[in-house]
Amino acid sequence: FDAVDIIRTKRDGGELSDPQIAWVIDAYVRGVVAEEQMSALAMAILLRGMGRREIASWTTAMIASGERMDFSGLRRRTVDKHSTGGVGDKITLPLAPLVATFDVAVPQLSGRGLGHTGGTLDKLESIPGWRAALSNEEMMAQLDGVGAVICQAGSGLAPADRRLYALRDVTGTVEAIPLIASSIMSKKIAEGTAALVLDVKVGSGAFMKDLSQARELAQTMVDLGTDAGVDTRALLTDMSTPLGLTAGNALEVRESLEVLAGGGPADVVDLTVALAQEMLDAAGKPGVDVRAALADGRAMDTWRAMIAAQGGDPDAPLPTAKHTEQVLAPADGVLVGLDALAVGVAAWRLGAGRARREDEVQAGAGVELHAKPGATVRAGEVLMTLHTDTPERFDRAREILTDAATIAPAGSRPGTGEGVVLE
Ligand code: URA
Repeated sequence: FDAVDIIRTKRDGGELSDPQIAWVIDAYVRGVVAEEQMSALAMAILLRGMGRREIASWTTAMIASGERMDFSGLRRRTVDKHSTGGVGDKITLPLAPLVATFDVAVPQLSGRGLGHTGGTLDKLESIPGWRAALSNEEMMAQLDGVGAVICQAGSGLAPADRRLYALRDVTGTVEAIPLIASSIMSKKIAEGTAALVLDVKVGSGAFMKDLSQARELAQTMVDLGTDAGVDTRALLTDMSTPLGLTAGNALEVRESLEVLAGGGPADVVDLTVALAQEMLDAAGKPGVDVRAALADGRAMDTWRAMIAAQGGDPDAPLPTAKHTEQVLAPADGVLVGLDALAVGVAAWRLGAGRARREDEVQAGAGVELHAKPGATVRAGEVLMTLHTDTPERFDRAREILTDAATIAPAGSRPGTGEGVVLE
Protein backbone atom coordinates (compact mmCIF):
# COMPACT_ATOMS: atom_id res chain seq x y z
CA PHE A 1 0.00 0.00 0.00
CA ASP A 2 1.00 3.58 -0.48
CA ALA A 3 0.03 6.37 1.93
CA VAL A 4 -0.34 8.94 -0.83
CA ASP A 5 -2.79 6.69 -2.74
CA ILE A 6 -4.86 6.26 0.40
CA ILE A 7 -4.90 10.02 1.05
CA ARG A 8 -5.91 10.72 -2.58
CA THR A 9 -8.71 8.14 -2.44
CA LYS A 10 -10.26 9.78 0.62
CA ARG A 11 -9.55 13.31 -0.64
CA ASP A 12 -11.57 12.52 -3.78
CA GLY A 13 -14.46 11.09 -1.78
CA GLY A 14 -13.69 7.40 -2.28
CA GLU A 15 -14.01 4.55 0.20
CA LEU A 16 -11.02 2.92 1.85
CA SER A 17 -10.86 -0.87 1.93
CA ASP A 18 -10.42 -2.80 5.20
CA PRO A 19 -6.84 -3.83 4.28
CA GLN A 20 -5.95 -0.21 3.43
CA ILE A 21 -7.25 0.98 6.80
CA ALA A 22 -5.49 -1.79 8.74
CA TRP A 23 -2.26 -0.99 6.93
CA VAL A 24 -2.35 2.79 7.35
CA ILE A 25 -2.95 2.66 11.12
CA ASP A 26 -0.32 0.01 11.71
CA ALA A 27 2.17 1.81 9.46
CA TYR A 28 1.48 5.10 11.30
CA VAL A 29 2.23 3.46 14.67
CA ARG A 30 5.44 1.98 13.21
CA GLY A 31 6.51 5.38 11.86
CA VAL A 32 6.26 4.30 8.22
CA VAL A 33 3.36 6.68 7.56
CA ALA A 34 4.60 10.17 8.52
CA GLU A 35 2.78 12.63 10.79
CA GLU A 36 2.12 14.96 7.83
CA GLN A 37 0.58 12.10 5.86
CA MET A 38 -1.67 11.08 8.73
CA SER A 39 -2.71 14.69 9.24
CA ALA A 40 -3.64 15.01 5.54
CA LEU A 41 -5.66 11.80 5.81
CA ALA A 42 -7.40 13.01 8.99
CA MET A 43 -8.39 16.23 7.18
CA ALA A 44 -9.66 14.26 4.18
CA ILE A 45 -11.77 12.14 6.58
CA LEU A 46 -13.07 15.28 8.32
CA LEU A 47 -14.14 16.79 4.97
CA ARG A 48 -15.36 13.62 3.18
CA GLY A 49 -16.60 11.45 6.05
CA MET A 50 -16.57 7.68 6.31
CA GLY A 51 -19.19 4.97 5.86
CA ARG A 52 -20.23 2.57 8.64
CA ARG A 53 -17.92 -0.22 7.40
CA GLU A 54 -14.94 2.15 7.17
CA ILE A 55 -15.53 3.49 10.70
CA ALA A 56 -15.82 -0.06 12.09
CA SER A 57 -12.64 -1.06 10.29
CA TRP A 58 -10.79 2.05 11.53
CA THR A 59 -11.87 1.26 15.10
CA THR A 60 -10.77 -2.38 14.80
CA ALA A 61 -7.35 -1.26 13.57
CA MET A 62 -6.94 1.15 16.49
CA ILE A 63 -7.88 -1.61 18.98
CA ALA A 64 -5.38 -3.95 17.30
CA SER A 65 -2.60 -1.40 17.94
CA GLY A 66 -2.60 -2.30 21.65
CA GLU A 67 -3.72 -4.66 24.38
CA ARG A 68 -7.22 -5.68 25.38
CA MET A 69 -8.30 -6.03 28.97
CA ASP A 70 -10.43 -8.88 30.20
CA PHE A 71 -12.91 -8.45 33.02
CA SER A 72 -14.66 -11.75 32.41
CA GLY A 73 -13.11 -13.29 35.54
CA LEU A 74 -14.81 -10.76 37.83
CA ARG A 75 -17.60 -11.78 40.12
CA ARG A 76 -19.58 -8.65 39.19
CA ARG A 77 -20.89 -7.57 35.77
CA THR A 78 -19.07 -4.60 34.28
CA VAL A 79 -20.68 -1.41 33.05
CA ASP A 80 -18.93 1.82 32.16
CA LYS A 81 -19.99 5.29 31.09
CA HIS A 82 -18.29 7.83 28.90
CA SER A 83 -19.06 11.49 28.49
CA THR A 84 -17.98 13.34 25.36
CA GLY A 85 -16.85 16.16 27.64
CA GLY A 86 -18.43 19.21 29.17
CA VAL A 87 -18.04 22.11 31.57
CA GLY A 88 -18.66 21.27 35.21
CA ASP A 89 -19.13 17.63 34.20
CA LYS A 90 -18.19 15.93 37.45
CA ILE A 91 -20.86 13.24 37.02
CA THR A 92 -18.39 10.32 37.02
CA LEU A 93 -17.47 11.15 40.64
CA PRO A 94 -20.85 10.45 42.24
CA LEU A 95 -21.98 8.06 39.48
CA ALA A 96 -19.29 5.36 39.69
CA PRO A 97 -19.73 4.70 43.44
CA LEU A 98 -23.52 5.02 43.17
CA VAL A 99 -23.72 2.32 40.49
CA ALA A 100 -21.19 0.08 42.23
CA THR A 101 -23.42 0.15 45.34
CA PHE A 102 -25.73 -2.22 43.42
CA ASP A 103 -23.07 -4.94 43.16
CA VAL A 104 -21.88 -4.22 39.63
CA ALA A 105 -18.31 -3.33 38.63
CA VAL A 106 -17.62 0.14 37.22
CA PRO A 107 -14.19 0.41 35.58
CA GLN A 108 -13.80 4.10 34.81
CA LEU A 109 -10.57 4.51 32.88
CA SER A 110 -10.33 8.27 32.69
CA GLY A 111 -8.18 11.03 31.33
CA ARG A 112 -6.84 14.43 32.18
CA GLY A 113 -8.29 17.66 30.90
CA LEU A 114 -6.90 19.51 27.94
CA GLY A 115 -8.52 22.76 26.88
CA HIS A 116 -11.75 24.00 28.45
CA THR A 117 -13.19 20.66 29.58
CA GLY A 118 -11.84 19.33 32.84
CA GLY A 119 -10.39 15.89 33.39
CA THR A 120 -11.75 13.45 35.94
CA LEU A 121 -8.26 12.49 37.15
CA ASP A 122 -7.32 16.15 37.70
CA LYS A 123 -10.42 16.55 39.85
CA LEU A 124 -9.72 13.48 42.00
CA GLU A 125 -6.06 14.42 42.42
CA SER A 126 -7.21 17.38 44.53
CA ILE A 127 -7.98 14.79 47.25
CA PRO A 128 -4.85 14.43 49.42
CA GLY A 129 -3.06 11.13 48.83
CA TRP A 130 -5.27 9.86 45.98
CA ARG A 131 -3.40 8.22 43.11
CA ALA A 132 -4.56 7.75 39.54
CA ALA A 133 -2.12 5.07 38.37
CA LEU A 134 -3.05 1.48 39.28
CA SER A 135 -1.64 -1.80 38.02
CA ASN A 136 -4.07 -4.14 36.28
CA GLU A 137 -4.00 -6.41 39.36
CA GLU A 138 -4.87 -3.51 41.68
CA MET A 139 -7.69 -2.51 39.39
CA MET A 140 -9.15 -6.02 39.27
CA ALA A 141 -8.94 -6.42 43.05
CA GLN A 142 -10.66 -3.08 43.60
CA LEU A 143 -13.40 -3.93 41.09
CA ASP A 144 -14.17 -7.20 42.86
CA GLY A 145 -14.00 -5.60 46.31
CA VAL A 146 -15.24 -2.00 46.24
CA GLY A 147 -16.83 -2.29 42.79
CA ALA A 148 -15.80 1.15 41.52
CA VAL A 149 -12.44 2.25 40.17
CA ILE A 150 -11.65 5.60 38.60
CA CYS A 151 -8.08 5.46 37.33
CA GLN A 152 -5.72 6.39 34.57
CA ALA A 153 -6.07 4.45 31.34
CA GLY A 154 -2.88 2.45 30.77
CA SER A 155 -0.78 3.45 27.78
CA GLY A 156 -1.35 -0.03 26.33
CA LEU A 157 -4.98 0.59 25.34
CA ALA A 158 -5.34 1.74 21.70
CA PRO A 159 -1.94 3.47 21.52
CA ALA A 160 -2.69 4.49 17.92
CA ASP A 161 -5.45 6.70 19.31
CA ARG A 162 -3.09 8.46 21.71
CA ARG A 163 -0.85 9.53 18.82
CA LEU A 164 -3.66 10.30 16.45
CA TYR A 165 -5.54 12.36 19.03
CA ALA A 166 -2.46 14.48 19.76
CA LEU A 167 -2.04 15.02 16.01
CA ARG A 168 -5.72 15.93 15.53
CA ASP A 169 -5.47 18.36 18.40
CA VAL A 170 -2.91 20.48 16.53
CA THR A 171 -4.27 20.05 12.98
CA GLY A 172 -7.89 21.18 13.31
CA THR A 173 -9.19 17.64 12.84
CA VAL A 174 -10.73 16.85 16.23
CA GLU A 175 -14.32 17.64 15.16
CA ALA A 176 -14.85 14.75 12.74
CA ILE A 177 -17.61 12.32 13.76
CA PRO A 178 -15.85 9.17 12.39
CA LEU A 179 -12.64 10.12 14.19
CA ILE A 180 -14.29 11.05 17.51
CA ALA A 181 -16.46 7.90 17.47
CA SER A 182 -13.58 5.54 16.63
CA SER A 183 -11.30 7.26 19.16
CA ILE A 184 -13.72 6.88 22.05
CA MET A 185 -15.00 3.43 21.14
CA SER A 186 -11.60 1.88 20.42
CA LYS A 187 -10.59 2.64 24.03
CA LYS A 188 -13.88 1.42 25.50
CA ILE A 189 -13.93 -1.82 23.47
CA ALA A 190 -10.25 -2.51 24.28
CA GLU A 191 -11.05 -1.90 27.96
CA GLY A 192 -13.39 -4.89 27.79
CA THR A 193 -16.50 -3.56 29.52
CA ALA A 194 -19.63 -5.66 28.94
CA ALA A 195 -21.93 -2.63 28.78
CA LEU A 196 -21.47 1.07 28.12
CA VAL A 197 -23.64 4.16 28.52
CA LEU A 198 -22.59 7.19 26.51
CA ASP A 199 -23.39 10.72 27.64
CA VAL A 200 -23.25 12.71 24.41
CA LYS A 201 -23.16 16.43 25.14
CA VAL A 202 -24.91 19.04 23.01
CA GLY A 203 -24.38 22.80 23.15
CA SER A 204 -21.79 25.58 23.34
CA GLY A 205 -19.56 23.75 25.84
CA ALA A 206 -19.51 20.48 23.80
CA PHE A 207 -17.87 19.26 20.57
CA MET A 208 -21.32 18.89 19.06
CA LYS A 209 -23.10 22.23 19.01
CA ASP A 210 -26.46 21.00 17.69
CA LEU A 211 -28.79 18.08 18.29
CA SER A 212 -28.61 16.52 14.81
CA GLN A 213 -24.80 16.29 14.88
CA ALA A 214 -24.92 14.88 18.42
CA ARG A 215 -27.51 12.32 17.35
CA GLU A 216 -25.26 11.21 14.50
CA LEU A 217 -22.24 10.88 16.82
CA ALA A 218 -24.33 8.91 19.34
CA GLN A 219 -25.70 6.54 16.69
CA THR A 220 -22.23 5.98 15.23
CA MET A 221 -20.83 5.04 18.65
CA VAL A 222 -23.82 2.84 19.54
CA ASP A 223 -23.39 0.96 16.23
CA LEU A 224 -19.66 0.47 16.86
CA GLY A 225 -20.23 -0.84 20.38
CA THR A 226 -23.13 -3.08 19.39
CA ASP A 227 -21.13 -4.61 16.50
CA ALA A 228 -18.31 -5.34 18.96
CA GLY A 229 -20.65 -7.13 21.38
CA VAL A 230 -20.83 -4.32 23.97
CA ASP A 231 -24.36 -3.44 25.15
CA THR A 232 -24.11 0.26 24.23
CA ARG A 233 -26.70 3.00 24.84
CA ALA A 234 -26.57 6.78 24.61
CA LEU A 235 -28.26 9.77 26.21
CA LEU A 236 -28.08 13.22 24.63
CA THR A 237 -27.67 15.83 27.35
CA ASP A 238 -27.55 19.61 27.56
CA MET A 239 -24.19 21.39 27.62
CA SER A 240 -25.31 24.91 26.75
CA THR A 241 -24.82 25.90 30.38
CA PRO A 242 -22.41 24.36 32.94
CA LEU A 243 -23.52 21.34 34.93
CA GLY A 244 -24.13 22.26 38.53
CA LEU A 245 -22.65 25.30 40.22
CA THR A 246 -18.92 24.60 39.93
CA ALA A 247 -16.20 24.24 37.27
CA GLY A 248 -12.75 23.46 38.65
CA ASN A 249 -11.05 20.51 40.29
CA ALA A 250 -11.55 20.66 44.08
CA LEU A 251 -14.70 22.78 43.60
CA GLU A 252 -16.22 19.91 41.61
CA VAL A 253 -15.18 17.30 44.18
CA ARG A 254 -16.93 19.38 46.85
CA GLU A 255 -20.13 19.49 44.77
CA SER A 256 -19.91 15.73 44.09
CA LEU A 257 -19.74 15.14 47.85
CA GLU A 258 -22.94 17.17 48.25
CA VAL A 259 -24.64 14.85 45.74
CA LEU A 260 -23.31 11.76 47.54
CA ALA A 261 -24.64 13.22 50.80
CA GLY A 262 -28.14 13.35 49.30
CA GLY A 263 -28.09 17.06 48.30
CA GLY A 264 -26.45 18.96 45.46
CA PRO A 265 -27.79 20.89 42.46
CA ALA A 266 -30.84 19.39 40.73
CA ASP A 267 -29.26 19.10 37.27
CA VAL A 268 -26.24 17.17 38.61
CA VAL A 269 -28.50 14.86 40.63
CA ASP A 270 -30.92 14.32 37.73
CA LEU A 271 -28.16 13.43 35.27
CA THR A 272 -26.40 11.18 37.78
CA VAL A 273 -29.66 9.35 38.42
CA ALA A 274 -30.58 9.07 34.72
CA LEU A 275 -27.17 7.63 33.82
CA ALA A 276 -27.15 5.31 36.85
CA GLN A 277 -30.56 3.92 35.88
CA GLU A 278 -29.41 3.33 32.30
CA MET A 279 -26.17 1.67 33.47
CA LEU A 280 -27.95 -0.58 35.95
CA ASP A 281 -30.51 -1.52 33.33
CA ALA A 282 -27.65 -2.49 30.98
CA ALA A 283 -26.09 -4.51 33.82
CA GLY A 284 -29.29 -6.49 34.30
CA LYS A 285 -30.62 -4.55 37.32
CA PRO A 286 -33.56 -2.55 35.97
CA GLY A 287 -35.83 -0.53 38.23
CA VAL A 288 -33.61 -0.25 41.32
CA ASP A 289 -34.09 2.85 43.48
CA VAL A 290 -30.88 4.82 42.89
CA ARG A 291 -32.14 8.00 44.60
CA ALA A 292 -32.52 6.01 47.82
CA ALA A 293 -28.84 5.02 47.68
CA LEU A 294 -27.89 8.71 47.52
CA ALA A 295 -30.29 9.67 50.30
CA ASP A 296 -29.34 6.91 52.78
CA GLY A 297 -25.55 7.14 52.50
CA ARG A 298 -24.83 3.84 50.72
CA ALA A 299 -23.31 5.62 47.69
CA MET A 300 -21.20 7.77 50.05
CA ASP A 301 -19.90 4.63 51.78
CA THR A 302 -18.81 3.24 48.39
CA TRP A 303 -17.17 6.57 47.53
CA ARG A 304 -15.17 6.52 50.77
CA ALA A 305 -14.03 2.95 50.14
CA MET A 306 -13.11 3.82 46.52
CA ILE A 307 -11.05 6.88 47.52
CA ALA A 308 -9.32 5.07 50.40
CA ALA A 309 -8.46 2.06 48.17
CA GLN A 310 -6.46 4.45 45.97
CA GLY A 311 -4.59 6.05 48.86
CA GLY A 312 -6.86 9.06 49.28
CA ASP A 313 -8.07 10.42 52.61
CA PRO A 314 -11.83 10.90 52.28
CA ASP A 315 -11.86 13.04 55.44
CA ALA A 316 -9.01 15.41 54.51
CA PRO A 317 -10.04 19.02 53.85
CA LEU A 318 -10.05 19.88 50.13
CA PRO A 319 -7.61 22.52 48.91
CA THR A 320 -8.94 26.02 48.27
CA ALA A 321 -7.52 28.78 46.07
CA LYS A 322 -5.50 31.58 47.65
CA HIS A 323 -7.53 34.36 46.01
CA THR A 324 -11.16 34.94 45.07
CA GLU A 325 -13.00 37.72 43.26
CA GLN A 326 -16.68 38.23 42.60
CA VAL A 327 -18.53 38.87 39.34
CA LEU A 328 -21.69 40.93 39.90
CA ALA A 329 -24.95 41.02 37.96
CA PRO A 330 -25.01 44.14 35.77
CA ALA A 331 -28.84 44.53 35.82
CA ASP A 332 -32.12 43.41 37.39
CA GLY A 333 -34.01 40.65 35.58
CA VAL A 334 -34.05 36.95 34.80
CA LEU A 335 -30.85 35.08 34.03
CA VAL A 336 -31.86 33.44 30.73
CA GLY A 337 -28.47 32.12 29.64
CA LEU A 338 -25.08 31.31 31.14
CA ASP A 339 -22.69 30.17 28.46
CA ALA A 340 -20.93 26.87 29.16
CA LEU A 341 -17.99 27.55 26.86
CA ALA A 342 -17.21 30.93 28.45
CA VAL A 343 -17.35 29.49 31.98
CA GLY A 344 -15.19 26.53 30.91
CA VAL A 345 -12.57 28.74 29.30
CA ALA A 346 -12.54 31.10 32.30
CA ALA A 347 -12.03 28.19 34.73
CA TRP A 348 -9.26 26.87 32.52
CA ARG A 349 -7.52 30.27 32.38
CA LEU A 350 -7.84 30.67 36.16
CA GLY A 351 -5.65 27.55 36.43
CA ALA A 352 -8.12 24.64 36.58
CA GLY A 353 -6.95 23.33 33.19
CA ARG A 354 -3.79 23.17 31.18
CA ALA A 355 -2.73 24.68 27.86
CA ARG A 356 0.00 22.08 27.26
CA ARG A 357 0.01 18.45 28.31
CA GLU A 358 2.94 19.01 30.71
CA ASP A 359 1.33 21.95 32.59
CA GLU A 360 0.28 21.55 36.24
CA VAL A 361 -3.28 22.32 37.23
CA GLN A 362 -4.29 24.27 40.33
CA ALA A 363 -6.48 22.16 42.63
CA GLY A 364 -8.43 25.14 43.99
CA ALA A 365 -8.90 27.18 40.81
CA GLY A 366 -12.18 27.58 38.94
CA VAL A 367 -15.53 29.28 38.73
CA GLU A 368 -18.34 28.98 41.25
CA LEU A 369 -21.80 29.99 40.07
CA HIS A 370 -24.36 31.54 42.39
CA ALA A 371 -27.25 31.54 39.92
CA LYS A 372 -28.33 29.30 37.06
CA PRO A 373 -30.59 30.04 34.07
CA GLY A 374 -34.12 30.69 35.24
CA ALA A 375 -33.07 32.57 38.39
CA THR A 376 -34.25 36.11 39.13
CA VAL A 377 -31.27 38.38 39.83
CA ARG A 378 -30.80 41.96 41.04
CA ALA A 379 -28.14 44.40 39.85
CA GLY A 380 -25.06 44.15 42.08
CA GLU A 381 -25.88 40.63 43.32
CA VAL A 382 -23.00 38.11 43.15
CA LEU A 383 -23.35 35.95 40.01
CA MET A 384 -20.03 34.08 40.16
CA THR A 385 -16.95 33.72 42.35
CA LEU A 386 -13.61 33.28 40.58
CA HIS A 387 -10.95 31.20 42.36
CA THR A 388 -7.19 31.12 41.63
CA ASP A 389 -3.76 30.99 43.25
CA THR A 390 -2.45 33.44 40.63
CA PRO A 391 -4.42 36.70 40.89
CA GLU A 392 -2.90 38.15 37.71
CA ARG A 393 -5.28 35.77 35.91
CA PHE A 394 -8.46 37.50 37.14
CA ASP A 395 -8.49 40.15 34.38
CA ARG A 396 -8.38 37.60 31.58
CA ALA A 397 -11.12 35.51 33.19
CA ARG A 398 -13.36 38.58 33.60
CA GLU A 399 -12.82 39.46 29.97
CA ILE A 400 -13.80 35.94 28.86
CA LEU A 401 -16.92 36.12 31.04
CA THR A 402 -18.02 39.58 29.82
CA ASP A 403 -20.97 38.30 27.75
CA ALA A 404 -21.37 34.89 29.41
CA ALA A 405 -24.50 35.84 31.37
CA THR A 406 -27.64 36.99 29.54
CA ILE A 407 -30.10 38.89 31.73
CA ALA A 408 -33.57 39.61 30.29
CA PRO A 409 -36.51 41.61 31.68
CA ALA A 410 -38.57 40.06 34.48
CA GLY A 411 -40.99 37.41 33.17
CA SER A 412 -38.56 36.09 30.49
CA ARG A 413 -37.83 32.41 30.25
CA PRO A 414 -34.44 30.76 29.70
CA GLY A 415 -33.64 29.28 26.27
CA THR A 416 -33.20 25.84 27.72
CA GLY A 417 -35.23 24.45 30.55
CA GLU A 418 -36.62 21.10 29.53
CA GLY A 419 -34.14 19.48 31.89
CA VAL A 420 -30.64 18.23 31.41
CA VAL A 421 -31.50 14.99 29.59
CA LEU A 422 -32.64 15.93 26.07
CA GLU A 423 -33.16 12.46 24.52
N1 URA B 1 -12.56 12.13 23.32
C1 URA B 1 -11.77 11.17 22.79
O1 URA B 1 -11.31 10.28 23.48
N2 URA B 1 -11.49 11.22 21.49
C2 URA B 1 -11.98 12.18 20.67
O2 URA B 1 -11.70 12.17 19.49
C3 URA B 1 -12.78 13.18 21.23
C4 URA B 1 -13.05 13.11 22.55
